[in-house]
Amino acid sequence: MIEIEHCQEDVKKLLERPIVLVGMMGVGKTTVGRLLASRLGWAFYDTDDEIVRLVGKSISDIFSEDGEPAFRELERTTIKHLLSQGPCIISCGGGGFTVPETTQAIKERSLALWMDAPIHLLVDRTKSGDRPLLKHGNPEDVLQNLLDRRRVYYAQAHVHVLDDGLTPDEMANRVLLQIREYLYDRASDQEKESFVPDAMCMTVTVTDRSYPIFIGSGLIKQPELWLAHELQGRDAFIITDYNVRERITDSFVKTLKPLMKSVSMMELAPGEQTKSFERYQAVLEWMIDNGVKRDSVVFAVGGGVIGDLAGFAAATIMRGVDFIQVPTTLLSQVDSSVGGKAAINSKSAKNIVGTFYQPRTVVIDLDTLMTLPRREWLSGYAEIVKYGLIGDEAFFEWLGENGALMLDGNLSQTMRAIETGCHKKAEIVAKDEKEKSGERALLNFGHTFAHALEANAGYDGTLLHGEAVSIGMVLAARLSQRLGYLAQDDVDKIYNHLHFLGLKTEIRDVEFKTPVTVNDLISAMKKDKKTDVHGLKFVVLKRIGVADLESSVDEALVASILEGSM
Ligand SMILES: NC(=O)c1ccc[n+]([C@@H]2O[C@H](COP(=O)([O-])OP(=O)(O)OC[C@H]3O[C@@H](n4cnc5c(N)ncnc54)[C@H](O)[C@@H]3O)[C@@H](O)[C@H]2O)c1
Repeated sequence: MIEIEHCQEDVKKLLERPIVLVGMMGVGKTTVGRLLASRLGWAFYDTDDEIVRLVGKSISDIFSEDGEPAFRELERTTIKHLLSQGPCIISCGGGGFTVPETTQAIKERSLALWMDAPIHLLVDRTKSGDRPLLKHGNPEDVLQNLLDRRRVYYAQAHVHVLDDGLTPDEMANRVLLQIREYLYDRASDQEKESFVPDAMCMTVTVTDRSYPIFIGSGLIKQPELWLAHELQGRDAFIITDYNVRERITDSFVKTLKPLMKSVSMMELAPGEQTKSFERYQAVLEWMIDNGVKRDSVVFAVGGGVIGDLAGFAAATIMRGVDFIQVPTTLLSQVDSSVGGKAAINSKSAKNIVGTFYQPRTVVIDLDTLMTLPRREWLSGYAEIVKYGLIGDEAFFEWLGENGALMLDGNLSQTMRAIETGCHKKAEIVAKDEKEKSGERALLNFGHTFAHALEANAGYDGTLLHGEAVSIGMVLAARLSQRLGYLAQDDVDKIYNHLHFLGLKTEIRDVEFKTPVTVNDLISAMKKDKKTDVHGLKFVVLKRIGVADLESSVDEALVASILEGSM
């Protein structure tokens, strides 16, 4: 179970400088700041209050009598003074962090934390109170304009925490979790040993909003820790499969019920075949029969199959309802639950019908992995290796040392690997949410081969997605080598790593029910979404940790690589 007290201890132990809360007016910097100060046993300062005390007049009066530049100068000197006070909490006025000299001082001498919230919450929270900048015009437009201009500064804060409708206590918990995660990332190996690895929270930023990912042990038993306040009290529609239902979902329903108006559950058959038009229709009709409304919340509790199908249903029912991912396989925790791709399969092509639809929250409870069969662990591991190969050589090396431990169920290594994977995916999704610039397409490393293998294996459990990805990555590494990019040593390293841990690495490792030919695989590749007017397209490696897209790949070359593996 998550002990928020552990976070407090870790933060107190490791942070020897002030925490400065920055962000828009109305986000709750003062309220949450006071709570944080009292929990950490530190002093609390509000820069506006300090200025009022110093000059003996209200902020409004300073603005109207002396002008904004005079106020900003007072703010700058006040913050400079407060930054020399040692560990404390400082709530910085909304514009303070937008004055370059002040921004620089805060960044250098404190931990700057951006408290962020959607505009509609800020409007609600600024209705009462003396806010000089909101005196003219429509508050929503004024706040939006301010945020549009300030975001570039706020984004320079060390930590970004999203309030998606939390109470101050809940927000204080989230802030502590994220600060601890930030500190953990930067701690020495020796310091890391003293951390209690039980939970963390990171933020995914997409075009029009952000959402949190929670990673930890015991999260499903404590939905009050992560379920945004504004989603509580609504109708919940839980979609799961029957393997997961008895192991996880039944008890989740019990803990969720007190927080929701109603909780309905639909149980589907496990396996890739569930991502079909028929099951999609069945889910929609079940929701309609059970009174789904615009404010209902869909929860996907299960692996990538359930996540993809439930996400697509949530995206399309009533033109989109709120959706929460509770992934329960390693693969879904590290990959499919993050980034908003939701899709179903046609008879001949995977994920061919779908959309981009971001979840409101992702909840990764490591305890769910305890019942996951080893074959599924290995399948998920392939997607983890992919992150190292396409963008982080050091992570690939780390997996070389820690992969076996992780696959033996070591939670500490698993948490680090999932966290790194989610970070990498979040970074890529933030740059290219809808796979337009090519950045996100790099996540498809190994997938052109993999999808062709899966389509020929028949989606019936003969070949799991991650198993196909593992073989696909080996083939894509060989293709990269044959194109003159990747050294043979690196191809061997990739093969050996996967093979040593027991993953499938060759097409001949798959027991197809009917024999498969090179032509069968090539024609499946041509139906894949990744194929375009330029013909076969692949993600290739320039070296381990550096990937690129390669269009118009010679079919004969692909055929010879396939042949060599059959
Ligand atoms: N949306 C994306 O970005 C994305 C990315 C990668 C993969 N995917 C999709 O994800 C799917 C594969 O996901 P998956 O590997 O999670 O498969 P899955 O959903 O089929 O789950 C694998 C098996 O594990 C069982 N299971 C799940 N959680 C369990 C638990 N905690 N204990 C015991 N058994 C458990 C399931 O019932 C199932 O039998 C594919 O359809 C793939 O296309 C999507």
